[in-house]
Amino acid sequence: MIEGLQLRHRNADEAAGILDELVNLYLEVHAGGGEFYSEDRFRRQLSMHMQRVGWELVTATFDGVLIGYIYGFPLPPQTRWWDGIHQPVPPGFTDEDGTRTFALSELLVHSNWRRQGIAAALHDDLIGARTEPRVTLLVRTDNVAAQTAYRSWGWSRVTQLRPNWEAAPTFDVFVRSAHIVKPKGLHVGAAPSQPGPLPCQDDGS
Ligand SMILES: CC(C)(COP(=O)(O)OP(=O)(O)OC[C@H]1O[C@@H](n2cnc3c(N)ncnc32)[C@H](O)[C@@H]1OP(=O)(O)O)[C@@H](O)C(=O)NCCC(=O)NCCS
Repeated sequence: MIEGLQLRHRNADEAAGILDELVNLYLEVHAGGGEFYSEDRFRRQLSMHMQRVGWELVTATFDGVLIGYIYGFPLPPQTRWWDGIHQPVPPGFTDEDGTRTFALSELLVHSNWRRQGIAAALHDDLIGARTEPRVTLLVRTDNVAAQTAYRSWGWSRVTQLRPNWEAAPTFDVFVRSAHIVKPKGLHVGAAPSQPGPLPCQDDGS
């Protein structure tokens, strides 16, 4: 890992203090991405997601500057996360009870810091701390970097989904077992993170 890189877990209360930093990095990373990646929509997404029980953020900072983050939350029984899913899916695939599935909603790394294992470290640090057996996320079909990364981390594509949000694209639905043992040599080690307290998708519930 990069010397001086800090990974830190934060719950929603702790994240509220760095809301503008989260938004600014999102806007910088997705600049030119179109209407879906607007400040207004992302602020609404964050505000909604941060109210979810079990919401968790892991930030990557260097010299106190935010350079990447990942967040997600467990899907509650009445979740609308799966609204817009393309059938067919296996029976019971979208059944949730609040403990079955952790949904990754954002993962991003500043362009100056890419291909150094930071996304992998954020991903492993967040998922490794979760108790839900299954993780899910949505990723654009044309997002080569993310598609390649997720597949290399053991994720599989199940179907597609178009969220019920204005200007939302159609995403691939990926799932993975939360706790898989990686073959030696594939793991990117996370820097020690402080103990603490899951585009890609908006949970409208
Ligand atoms: C996707 C993203 C988070 C990856 O961040 P990163 O820190 O560069 O990723 P890592 O260094 O951990 O790379 C892990 C693996 O992903 C794959 N990967 C990453 N960037 C890639 C690229 N541009 N092309 C092909 N594969 C890529 C590689 O397999 C890489 O492993 P390797 O470097 O050993 O070959 C980053 O490109 C990003 O922020 N993109 C914009 C936001 C985004 O699309 N987020 C995902 C939304 S679902």
